[in-house]
Order: sequence, then C-alpha cells, then structure tokens
Amino acid sequence: MKITSIVTAAALSLASSVMGQSTCNEFSPCFREGYCDSSAMFCLWDLCDPVKSYNSTSCWQPEGCISQTVNFDSSSDAVAINSYQGNPQTNKFLSVFEPNNVAVENGNMVLKMTYDAPNNKGFGATAKASSTIHYGRVTARIKTASVATGVVTSFIIINEQTGDEIDFEWVGKDPAQVQTNYYYQKELDYTKMTAYSMADTSAEYHDYTIDWSEDRIVWLVDNQPIRELKRQDTFDPQSNVYKYPTSESRVSFGIWDGGNSGAQGTQEWSGYPTPWTPSTVYQAFVDSVTIECAGGSSKPSDGGEQPTGSEQPTGGEQPSETGKDSEAPSSAPEPPKCRPRN
Ligand SMILES: *[C@@H]1O[C@H](CO)[C@@H](O)[C@H](O)[C@H]1NC(C)=O
Repeated sequence: MKITSIVTAAALSLASSVMGQSTCNEFSPCFREGYCDSSAMFCLWDLCDPVKSYNSTSCWQPEGCISQTVNFDSSSDAVAINSYQGNPQTNKFLSVFEPNNVAVENGNMVLKMTYDAPNNKGFGATAKASSTIHYGRVTARIKTASVATGVVTSFIIINEQTGDEIDFEWVGKDPAQVQTNYYYQKELDYTKMTAYSMADTSAEYHDYTIDWSEDRIVWLVDNQPIRELKRQDTFDPQSNVYKYPTSESRVSFGIWDGGNSGAQGTQEWSGYPTPWTPSTVYQAFVDSVTIECAGGSSKPSDGGEQPTGSEQPTGGEQPSETGKDSEAPSSAPEPPKCRPRN
C-alpha cells in the first residue's frame, strides 16, 4: 500500500476478498483496485470492476460517445475525478489518480510527472475521457514529454476491464520516434509494437490519430497513415478468435516513469535512469482532442444522470496494484506494456 493515494482511508472500505467475492456493500458498492467506495473514482464505468462490486448494476453505465473537439480553453475541460459531478458534457477529461497531476494551462491539458522521493521515481498522471467510444476516429494534438530518458508519454484508447487497448506511445530514450501498439484482452505480446521515426516529438506539436473501425485500425501522424492493422490479420487459429480490440473504451492520456520503474525490460525500453531532482517536473501537452464517433454521438442525453458520491477524498491510501502486471508501479498510472521482453 502506497502513501501516495487516491482517497482518504475514511472515504472507503478495504475490500476483503473471500473466494473471489468482495465485501463491497450498498454504501460502498463500487470495487476498484482492492477498495470499495461510492465515488466516481471507484464507480466510473471501466475503472469499476463489475464482478467484484456489490452487485451487477453497482458500477456506473458507460456514458456513450460524444463527437466533439476539446480545446482545453476552460478549466472545467479536465478536472480531478474527485470533483466530477457526473456530466460528461461539462467535464471532458478526468484525472483518475491522486495527487492530481493534470492541469489545464494556456489552452492545453498538461500531464505532469513530479518526483516521488521516497520511492525515487516519478509520480505521473492519467487523464481519461468522461465519455466512451466504440469505434471512431480520435485525433490528439500533442507535444510529448520525451525530454529525458525514462519519461513515457501515452495516448491510448483502452478498456481497463477487458484489456483491449490501442496505443500511441513515446519513450524519452527516443524523442524522434512514435510507437504504435495494440493489445487484445490484456494479452502481453510485445511483438506488435512498431516504431516510426519523425522529428523530435517534444519540440513541436503534432497531430496523432487513431482511426478505429470494426475492420481495421489506422494510426496517422499529421494526417499521414503510418500503420494499418486489419482485423482479418489478427486471427489466431489456436484459440479460433480474432485478437483485435473490440471493447467499448475510453480515450486516455498518460505520463509515467519507465526509467525508474524497477522493471528491467521497461527500463531498457524507455531508457534509464530517469533524471530527477526534487523540483523536476516533466510535462506532456495536449492542445486539443477531436473525437468523431462511429455513427455519430450516442446517448448524449445521458449526461448528468450518473449518481455521484458525497465524499471528496483528498489523500490517504492508494489502492493496491492491480496485479494484472506485477511490474507496473502504482505511481506510474499506465502499466508499462509496450516494451521488450524481460
Ligand atoms: C445494486 O446496488 C445498487 C447500489 O450500488 C443499489 O442501488 C441497487 O438497489 C442494488 N440492486 C439490487 C437488485 O440489489
């Protein structure tokens, strides 16, 4: 259990798992990473584990897709999930860890990584869309944090529960490169990553696009396709399934410390060590995000109808590590996934 925390101990109940059953109750119904609570941080669809929660309807429902461009001109565009009132039209992105290292500054959503001295590594940030997407096209205008070895920046579309994921990632070791990757159902297969060389991604903004349909995924940089994945090429004859991301998901941005993660494969992938002084802050800048939903917006009128918890957690205990990737430090919100084998 880390001290860097997402909520006050008083605001939640530690779930004791017995034979796979959680002890979340009707007052703290939502299970996330070992804890039960009633707030958005625990109940938001796809952060919330529907199997371990109090009952099958305890987790909030997916918000649906909203076709929109978010310019981060308003501080309400990205907020700490603790202050989220449940309306995806009002707050477009949610910072899902405490302390909150996401800020809206100068028309950007800025993801910051600060020094966590006791653990000698960075404490990063994850900002997730408050709306969901199930196929569509997402373009983010980004200036990465690839200014030092070990610093990882990510723009992904992910379902945290199923583990389907489509990635752009940048590693500090290679500032003039963007990596693309995808995962099917949390399967750790590092052979699917490809790297594309370009100008220093930390020096200028570029447009990065994930165009995701039922048949194929295209990754684009400044409107130029750099990779295409066809669903038909993901067929696995052994399991008789297409290992292709199909789950409704959220657009997610992250910054985390791969260089001081303690995992050798991750460190070699991102570069290491990550240089730190007590006052060092690494920053990734998201200037805008354009979401074009497949088939247009869905369920836009759902906004504002989600229940919200009354607690306003400010600090305390951090949920334990998820266990799905034991090497993922809990202070590095996005698990290190795109990396060479250990
Ligand atoms: C399921 O849990 C929610 C609280 O999370 C509660 O409002 C609802 O009544 C419960 N449903 C059933 C069938 O127990």
